[in-house]
Amino acid sequence: QKGNYEHYMQKEIHEQPESLTTTMRGRLIHGGSKVKGVLLGGLKDHLKTIRRSRRILFIGCGTSYYAGLATRALVEELSGVPVTMELASDLLDRRGPVYREDTAIFVSQSGETADTLEALEYAKSFGALCVGVTNTVGSAIARGTHCGVHINAGCEIGVASTKAYTSQIAAMTMMALALGDDTLSSCNRREAIIDDLINLPNKVREVLKLDNDMKELAKELMEEQSLLVFGRGYNYATALEGALKVKEVALMHSEGILAGEMKHGPLALVDENLPIIVIATRDATCSKQQSVIQQLQARKGRLIVMCTKGDANLMCPNGGYRFIEVPQLQDCLQPIINIVPFQLLAYHLTVLRGFNVDQPRNLAKSVTIS
Ligand code: F6R
Repeated sequence: QKGNYEHYMQKEIHEQPESLTTTMRGRLIHGGSKVKGVLLGGLKDHLKTIRRSRRILFIGCGTSYYAGLATRALVEELSGVPVTMELASDLLDRRGPVYREDTAIFVSQSGETADTLEALEYAKSFGALCVGVTNTVGSAIARGTHCGVHINAGCEIGVASTKAYTSQIAAMTMMALALGDDTLSSCNRREAIIDDLINLPNKVREVLKLDNDMKELAKELMEEQSLLVFGRGYNYATALEGALKVKEVALMHSEGILAGEMKHGPLALVDENLPIIVIATRDATCSKQQSVIQQLQARKGRLIVMCTKGDANLMCPNGGYRFIEVPQLQDCLQPIINIVPFQLLAYHLTVLRGFNVDQPRNLAKSVTIS
């Protein structure tokens, strides 16, 4: 089942061009020779209701929550509906308010996570429209929601979620496009995103070529105690998810930090020894990330900069740092590209540190008790 790969996680990272293709198959509508829009069969009868809702809640745990976070801004941009992020356990702990006019979107690879399932029953009890985004046909969340989208990433066996994460983002991007379908003003933006969705598998193939570079970086970092990851905008989710991958499989402390919060505490940690990855690929927040890099340089931070191919000199004119150069896509799809080097890094760190890649200590693939 693992084919030529040694571990499921490795196989699942490398099969992302194919899993993303499957996620999109049959869902991009062609008008003549051009792809014109998105068709999500499981949602089409509910789009009007979702567009009219007072707010959208994204509810999930762990990686699935981060996939929601990665698409939040696009859903807000294209639908005009405010999106609130909810970790399922926290919504339940505080018995947060849910209204009949809300659309609650439950994101779960397994479709069986106890907290997410309980949050679904909770939201249903208030009369919210409940939408599932799952990878498992017939799962409890797929059955319990009013409508939904299957991400069709194929079975994920490694405990650390990889291909499901990228397919969740692709599926929710298509959901955002479907929600924005009736607005003329966003027509060009929607077309540009659709064009890049079509390019996506090839771009992922390109970024997978960084495998050896990530192995080299893992050799450099394997004895470290800690790794920080700074991101913002669309890639705040990448920072959190990248750090989660490193901590859960490589058993190394790692923290994803919103770069805009750097001066409010984390800056105190910066010295010559602590490795920091800064995500600074091209988008509306890129110049802010450039100034974060300068501030970290001024404190002699040990930087690894993730930037758009060809931007290394621009981002760090003084050089001297390691770069992870990635291909560019529309800002909202960039998290799908940017997470891949982190997945590869976490994988190689784990192998080099001698830990179990597919069955990390203390973790289960599906968390069915809360
Ligand atoms: C991390 C990971 C977990 C899951 C979380 C939710 O790699 O796999 O954080 O994302 O347990 O699981 P699902 O998506 O099945 O609800």
